Amino acid sequence: MLNIVIFGAPGSGKGTQSELIIKEFGLDHISTGDVLRAELKAESELGKIANDYITKGQLVPDELIIDMLAKVLDSKKVSKGVIFDGFPRTIPQAEALKKMLNERGTDVTLMINLHVDEEELINRLLERGKRSGRSDDNIDTIKSRLEVYHSQTAPLAEYYIKEGKHHAIEGVGTIEDIFGLIKEQINATING
Ligand code: AP5
Ligand code: MG
Repeated sequence: MLNIVIFGAPGSGKGTQSELIIKEFGLDHISTGDVLRAELKAESELGKIANDYITKGQLVPDELIIDMLAKVLDSKKVSKGVIFDGFPRTIPQAEALKKMLNERGTDVTLMINLHVDEEELINRLLERGKRSGRSDDNIDTIKSRLEVYHSQTAPLAEYYIKEGKHHAIEGVGTIEDIFGLIKEQINATING
């Protein structure tokens, strides 16, 4: 199985690149942000709880996210593998993911860390905010999301470096060029 963690700050292109990776490698896609927004739309209990965190740009508590992820994973008949987008975001989430995958006889194959400078991230998210309808695409929430990313999520890079799975990719440029770099890295890992 090919299990990829796509990692990076808000607006770094995780969702955009996931779509291209899925097309090329035939993987299933799990975006915890998308799952939470679907829960919100369905007005579920989890959706209501999550909404407060999302609107403030904070992380939804680990227990809720890990439980949700396990259910989504079990609901999929995964064949080739999964791209995890926006998960894990904390060390406990990374440990839970490893355990969940190990129990299913597999593991994370590689982690792709998209590097994008802060000014570009803010510009992309403000631009998207004009039409996304996302409650977190406004300047105040964007700033909180970036702070939370630096304090709670960025340290995860170290976790994957220790696992020997971390691959940094320059995330500024055309979507196609960035995908080219990602594809090269995935192929090198598979064939390595
Ligand atoms: P989530 O939905 O994961 O949002 P995020 O991490 O803030 O990132 P985005 O989805 O905004 O950006 P992206 O990296 O996917 O970039 P995209 O491809 O869209 O999480 C939202 C919230 O849910 C969190 O704040 C938290 O509250 C909660 N949550 C989710 N997961 C959680 C977890 N595991 N634990 C706890 N809480 C969790 O691109 C952005 C824009 O840029 C787009 O408009 C795109 O068209 C454009 N773009 C993309 N690539 C390029 C390029 N190369 N050049 C120019 N523009 C580009
Ligand atoms: Mg996204």
